[in-house]
Amino acid sequence: MLGTREAADAIILALDCTRERALEITGELEGRLRWAKVGMTLYYQEGPSIVAALKERGLSVFLDLKLFDIPFQVEGAARAAAQSGADLLSLHALGGAEMVAAAARGVSSLDAKDRAKLIAITVLTSMNRDILESIGVGGDVASEVERLATLALANGAHGLVCSPHEVGRLRELLGPDALLICPGVRPAGAEKGDQKRTATPAEALSRGASKLVIGRPIMAAPEPCRAFDDIVREISESL
Ligand code: C5P
Repeated sequence: MLGTREAADAIILALDCTRERALEITGELEGRLRWAKVGMTLYYQEGPSIVAALKERGLSVFLDLKLFDIPFQVEGAARAAAQSGADLLSLHALGGAEMVAAAARGVSSLDAKDRAKLIAITVLTSMNRDILESIGVGGDVASEVERLATLALANGAHGLVCSPHEVGRLRELLGPDALLICPGVRPAGAEKGDQKRTATPAEALSRGASKLVIGRPIMAAPEPCRAFDDIVREISESL
């Protein structure tokens, strides 16, 4: 059985909401929540100050900006974004080897304390084979994820985002130390929303995820703190 502390530490709460709501919910979960994710919705409203506010509350922050542009622009963006104090920063592996390497250069030019770990998105968990085909990517999702994962790690990424459907294969391929983060997590019976390649929190962890990104199943629940505690309990009882 996994302890409740360890189970709670595996959850990264996606704060896709306003600043007020982000501060309210992290306040309510004080002492229980360890990781928060700031995505584009919140960051584009608030900028680096929201990262600082969450860090002041003792949280570790995943800044999920999913950088994707020419290498020159991404190098500058990664450097600037990491200065917010975030612990993890995301980018799209689809941007290619040069772009990932440029982001790594941008971050490594900073003082050690500002060097956020770079997390490469492989294939978004809202995409499936049909969607990939519609944008001209012919292969199956799993091979696409593996190809992008290898490319990203070879060019300076420290970890990966993948769906619970591919995490087992990546864990096998990359070994016990790889940092593998899974969104697309839905407790049994929860709404899937726009997510397509999903699994329950305990399934994703047992297949090898290091951490889980969970948003709407907690944020949109009638009682978010209770939903958080229920997920922690489900994880700790099943693992
Ligand atoms: O609300 P939900 O649990 O679906 O939240 C998922 C979060 O994970 C969102 O903030 C989304 O930006 C993020 N994400 C994702 N798929 C990826 C990478 C990040 O859904 N491949």
